[in-house]
Amino acid sequence: MGQVTTPSVDRRATVSLISRLRTAEGQRDPFPIYAQLRSRGGVVPAPWGGHLVTGFELCDQTLRSANWLEPDTHWREKQGAHRWNAPSAREISRTLPALNPPEHTRVRRAAGSFDRNTIRRIGRTVHRTVDRLLESLSDQLRDGEADFAALVSEELPVATIGDWLGLPAADWPRLREWTHEQVYTQELLPSASQLARSDAAMAELRSYFLALVRDRRNNLADDPVSEWIRTWDSLEPDQEEADEGVYLLALFVLLAALETTSTLLSLMTLHLVEDPDRWNLVADRPDLVPAFVEETLRFDPPSHVISRVAAMDCTLGGVEVRAEEMVHLMVGAAHRDPAKHPDPDRFDPHRKPAHLAFSGGIHYCLGAPLARLEAQTLLRQLVSRLPRLALVRRPTMAPRVAFRRLLNLDVALA
Ligand code: HEM
Repeated sequence: MGQVTTPSVDRRATVSLISRLRTAEGQRDPFPIYAQLRSRGGVVPAPWGGHLVTGFELCDQTLRSANWLEPDTHWREKQGAHRWNAPSAREISRTLPALNPPEHTRVRRAAGSFDRNTIRRIGRTVHRTVDRLLESLSDQLRDGEADFAALVSEELPVATIGDWLGLPAADWPRLREWTHEQVYTQELLPSASQLARSDAAMAELRSYFLALVRDRRNNLADDPVSEWIRTWDSLEPDQEEADEGVYLLALFVLLAALETTSTLLSLMTLHLVEDPDRWNLVADRPDLVPAFVEETLRFDPPSHVISRVAAMDCTLGGVEVRAEEMVHLMVGAAHRDPAKHPDPDRFDPHRKPAHLAFSGGIHYCLGAPLARLEAQTLLRQLVSRLPRLALVRRPTMAPRVAFRRLLNLDVALA
């Protein structure tokens, strides 16, 4: 006879799995925990309310359906919890990824996109920056080990987006620090002290970007912020409102572009250096570079959780969900769903995997071409310019569940 479970036993089991996800070991390797979660069903009640979704098809379908919405300002106001109404959470709820149509459609159009010419132009900067960063990595490796995360992964995204937005290089370190701090407000279960850190960082970011918009308005040129000012002026007669729209775009582009891309660069390099065969394979077959990057995005994506709320009462994977209830799409788990990817725990640079690392549907990541450009440029130059590198020790992960971050990536010449 099969094991009989009751709702309270089920709940205790899920609480225990979530607690394990929040430990250092769980953050280093959450995948066995995800497998246990998945074995409990594609849609599992979350201990704090709402549901956790671990099946690939269900996550994909939810992201593409108009029946699922972002937890927007209106939704947040109705939840009394400080977690949704802390100053940093409210500020995030005004940015592009937290909007629903029709407001989302309007702001997404105003944001524009990375067309081929822009990508080609940024590509030259990325190439030069990678050159410079690998030079300093090589210098350091001559004396022994080097922290790839600090020397390369943390530097390339801020140099790329900072140059594109026209932000002075002297500001990059503090922008990067504020970005790391604000991310807690977007975490799965932030603590009160983490929210306070996010609030402080968000206040700094707000002053910085409002001052930037004011300055650009007085010196309009052909940079993206000036372009957004022109676009918003044509949409919004009230100049203060227009400036607020530009501020929110510039703010979110920076937040979206830094940590996620740094994590991708570090994870990609981690998978490269932990297995000599992989390094040799990519060095011999540079045509595999794009597939290697995509497999990294499947195997361990920078964001492991994307949340949505139900627009109406419905069923998801046979489970009833009430209107306004939240579902957490456990993208990190969905990417290892054996129903989607055969032998999902094997890192295989030969597959060209479907993945949800950049989300799906109307909120599909605007910066995906830029993130891919940075990762592919770095990987190509790394294997062609440097002798093989080896991992010195396992990296330490930041205490997060949704947003992965490697605090170090210590490598040495093999
Ligand atoms: C590896 C790097 C990146 C990853 C993994 C990533 C991931 C994501 C994800 C998961 C979303 C959707 C969130 C949701 O559905 O609620 C998103 C949205 C977004 N991303 Fe990225 N991102 C990356 C890099 C970038 C870069 C470099 C930029 C900008 C230059 C960027 C700009 C945006 C914007 C503006 C949105 C909002 C789109 C919308 O809501 O319509 N991202 N990103």
